[in-house]
Amino acid sequence: MVEVRFEQPKDIDEVRLLNDKAFGQPVEGHIVDKLRQSCNRILSLVAISNNKIVGHIMFSPVTIETQEVVIQGMGLAPMAVLPELQNQGIGSILVKEGLRIIRNMSYPFVIVLGHKKYYPRFGFERASKYGLKSQWEGIPDEAFMAMILNDSIME
Ligand SMILES: CC(C)(COP(=O)(O)OP(=O)(O)OC[C@H]1O[C@@H](n2cnc3c(N)ncnc32)[C@H](O)[C@@H]1OP(=O)(O)O)[C@@H](O)C(=O)NCCC(=O)NCCS
Repeated sequence: MVEVRFEQPKDIDEVRLLNDKAFGQPVEGHIVDKLRQSCNRILSLVAISNNKIVGHIMFSPVTIETQEVVIQGMGLAPMAVLPELQNQGIGSILVKEGLRIIRNMSYPFVIVLGHKKYYPRFGFERASKYGLKSQWEGIPDEAFMAMILNDSIME
């Protein structure tokens, strides 16, 4: 039985350790700490099983910028599940709950830079389909994905 709830300050060390274990390096855990410090609209969720944090997902603010407008949305990154509990659906529960909350908060879009075989199952599509381009050079087209939650931003 897995429960998803908002991250609390007491979770911070365990979340960092979870990211270190899942990625096998300290980079992503450090990014999580930096995002939490530098952004004021973070959505950070933890998955709990047997009173232990077994999964984590973070969404932070991103913008779509055109010559006319700047639209605020959210970006999914990173997410992590304890290695011994991967491939049991915990990651999917976290993505779905995060997207449900983001929808309720009326954010018009979510961006993810990730694996083309994982994120499309939740409704993500190639961002290029919507004419969106990453600010970073050299990102493979299929890895930069978007989910549009409010079609009117594409008009
Ligand atoms: C990616 C991750 C969060 C998924 O969580 P999970 O609980 O294992 O995922 P689920 O059980 O919901 O889904 C399992 C599916 O994800 C796929 N998957 C797992 N890790 C993947 C990865 N790094 N890239 C692409 N697909 C992956 C599995 O092959 C499986 O696919 P299937 O359903 O077609 O068989 C987890 O595997 C993890 O922590 N990986 C290491 C860290 C990482 O790469 N994070 C993502 C980048 S931010």
